[in-house]
Amino acid sequence: MPTATGETIISFREAAKVFDGRKGAEVRAVDGVTLDVRAGEIFGVIGYSGAGKSTLVRLVNALERTTSGAVVVDGTDLTGLSEARLRPVRAGIGMIFQQFNLLSSRTVAGNVAYPLEVAGWSAARRRERVRELLDFVGIADKADVYPAKLSGGQKQRVGIARALATNPKILLADEATSALDPETTHDVLALLQRVNRELGITVVVITHEMDVVRSICHRVAVMEHGKVVELGDAYQVFSAPTQEVTRRFVSTALKDRPSVAVIERLRTRHAGRIVTVGVDDVTGSSAHVTHVLREHGVDGTIVYGGITEVAERPYGSLTVELVGPDDAVRAALAGLRSVTDVVDHGTARDPLGAPDEGNDR
Ligand SMILES: Nc1ncnc2c1ncn2[C@@H]1O[C@H](COP(=O)(O)OP(=O)(O)O)[C@@H](O)[C@H]1O
Ligand SMILES: [Mg+2]
Repeated sequence: MPTATGETIISFREAAKVFDGRKGAEVRAVDGVTLDVRAGEIFGVIGYSGAGKSTLVRLVNALERTTSGAVVVDGTDLTGLSEARLRPVRAGIGMIFQQFNLLSSRTVAGNVAYPLEVAGWSAARRRERVRELLDFVGIADKADVYPAKLSGGQKQRVGIARALATNPKILLADEATSALDPETTHDVLALLQRVNRELGITVVVITHEMDVVRSICHRVAVMEHGKVVELGDAYQVFSAPTQEVTRRFVSTALKDRPSVAVIERLRTRHAGRIVTVGVDDVTGSSAHVTHVLREHGVDGTIVYGGITEVAERPYGSLTVELVGPDDAVRAALAGLRSVTDVVDHGTARDPLGAPDEGNDR
């Protein structure tokens, strides 16, 4: 069940954070960011190391204060707010980290109970809440174990339980899966999805991993040098990237497009015409491709490619060897171009394409 209501819960307004770097040089870690996170969504912020993602997310709970501009959280402008006035805002925000930040001297239950102690809950209520939370994250059997005895995935489950303890509206996840192996990453992402769907909590996911955004984020901002360079629906941003940095992220998730060297080998190995056909749910599907080829009496053999999901919708490309009379192949190509994007690599005798073609995406 999608829980997004469309109302703004976090609003960055020309928000900037400037640090004093070495030799008095300024570091514009966050540089004039304007964006709204909507209540009930999973919002992704993706970028390479140093892009400013952690600083951006730390502005939300005022672990860092803006140098200029404003951050408004659930209707409260954080600019210039005293520590006392920040307390109720922070109570509505949970945070999890790459390194889990658990207290090694406390058991799992003790870690989850910690924020409840700080908030003054009675021992009886704490016990009940901790049990409920450990059940939710699936580690009820580890209540009395110390963090040192846990796997990375279990530690992050404790981190999530602790972050949810006081019923926040917002969960901030800063590289929460970056220290985990792919399978554990998948489990933790599924848990974050449950946090969003079942508890209605807005989740802001900070990551340098395309797979994280691809699998759970509804909307995404791509950050580079402190700025948001692309913003929108995750599918739209990744199926039609306009920035080089976004294209690089897309290509890490899906190696569907043949490189120049691969295209050369394909042309040598296959006598027919080699073409790459885009597959997505707006402009084309493999059924479209099959249909067009049949219509023109052209044989198509899939020789390279891949289709994956972005935001639960199909996305990728297929590279196909077309075999048939020249006229029929030409007509089939025109037919394909009318439904989707097509890159014609030609044949071994008559190769087509710029030297760097195929490396974009
Ligand atoms: N406390 C700080 N003092 C000085 N520079 C900082 C500080 N925190 C972050 N930076 C700098 O700000 C930039 C963005 O950092 P960060 O927000 O951690 O990026 P990311 O999380 O995307 O890797 C980097 O150049 C980093 O070195
Ligand atoms: Mg970071």
